[in-house]
Amino acid sequence: MGKALDGVRILDFTHVQSGPTCTQLLAWFGADVIKVERVGAGDITRDQLRDIPDADSLYFTMLNGNKRSVTIDTKHAQGKGVLERLIRDCDVLVENFAPGALERMGFSWERIQALNPRMIVASVKGFGPGPYEDCKVYENVAQCVGGAASTTGFDDGPPVVSGAQIGDSGTGLHLALGIVTALYQRVHTGRGQKVLAAMQDGVLNLCRVKLRDQQRLARTGVMKEYPQYPNASFGEAVPRAGNASGGGQPGWILKCRGWETDPNAYIYFIAQAPVWERICKLIGREEWIDHPDYATPNARLPRLKEIFGEIECWTMKRSKFEAMAVLNRYDIPCGPILSMKEIATDESLRASGTIVEVDHPVRGKYLTVGNPIKLSDSPTEVMRSPLLGEHTDEVLAEFGYSHDEILALRVAGAI
Ligand code: COA
Repeated sequence: MGKALDGVRILDFTHVQSGPTCTQLLAWFGADVIKVERVGAGDITRDQLRDIPDADSLYFTMLNGNKRSVTIDTKHAQGKGVLERLIRDCDVLVENFAPGALERMGFSWERIQALNPRMIVASVKGFGPGPYEDCKVYENVAQCVGGAASTTGFDDGPPVVSGAQIGDSGTGLHLALGIVTALYQRVHTGRGQKVLAAMQDGVLNLCRVKLRDQQRLARTGVMKEYPQYPNASFGEAVPRAGNASGGGQPGWILKCRGWETDPNAYIYFIAQAPVWERICKLIGREEWIDHPDYATPNARLPRLKEIFGEIECWTMKRSKFEAMAVLNRYDIPCGPILSMKEIATDESLRASGTIVEVDHPVRGKYLTVGNPIKLSDSPTEVMRSPLLGEHTDEVLAEFGYSHDEILALRVAGAI
């Protein structure tokens, strides 16, 4: 079966996490992703956080599957010549260098357009246009400047960054959508265009509910859906939410059996209004069903702490999986806190191709996260990451270089 992006050639100048997330996604959808790496060194993550000496790290291997690797010294005159040929015949150039690096290499937007007017040039940067546009940015910086950190954590503690890499992988996802959209528009216009995904903007997009809350808070002075209400007083900015669901249905993380020794023996419980009666029956508080202090969502808001405390008395008598099984029977939304250890061995995630084991010639078998987006006509086959420069000769031959020319480029140190 063909793949959705068959025939799309991507010149992949990405490194670390944000850009590689984007191009790996495009590769899973069938694009030919040619990762351009520095001669002899490659993507810096190849040797960061190594767990096996001399083997590409999991950091690298889990973000660069399904790609081909070529090494080109893009600061070498002959290397630039190779790059020009690749630019002429590829559809998309993706990069997440520090601001200005591509221009310093000699490949400004104007130059790329002159070489290939159909080329889409897609970039991740830390910030969009403005006072910080020249700054380098990493994941946690993005979480802080995008509004996420100020709203994460507990009200009596400092800002907290999330384990979900919303700055890097989140922005990579945004960029991938921008690229596919630009490819679609090119069908009609015949022209390439610039695509920019700034990490601050990407994080803010994922945090838009917090900007919603900022405006609600400014108008009303309170956020009633937080269980700490009415015990907490609210300041001028949206506070850290703790484990409040932040939506229209109150939720909290509750202890389950074994919480004293197992840091993940907890369940997320949503006291969804449509199933309130069932919740009351399950925890043995039938009197709450019609009681004016508890019968409606608004009446319950100032009592959320007490309500979740009562529900916790019920969850603490069960393991998180037992609680999940019972709550599901009553259609009560909930979710156990799964550790990465539990996720790594989850059979259904393996069966759906979301957790995949691949074989690597140096490191052997490793687990990776497969494509979270499933297309019925474009199934993803997850493949291992390439070795450094594994495909240099193959790719250059496809772009018209003879065996002798490739040899000469190598001797000159250009590839
Ligand atoms: N051959 C020769 N030189 C190469 C090369 C190649 N194949 N590929 C890259 N280089 C050079 C670049 O031209 C650049 O040189 P210059 O600084 O002389 O212009 C240099 O390698 C390093 O690029 P840079 O992006 O500045 O790397 P860095 O390690 O200093 O910074 C980041 C890393 C992530 C902070 C920075 O790239 C950045 O802010 N990127 C945008 C935001 C982003 O994606 N952040 C998240 C990363 S997960």
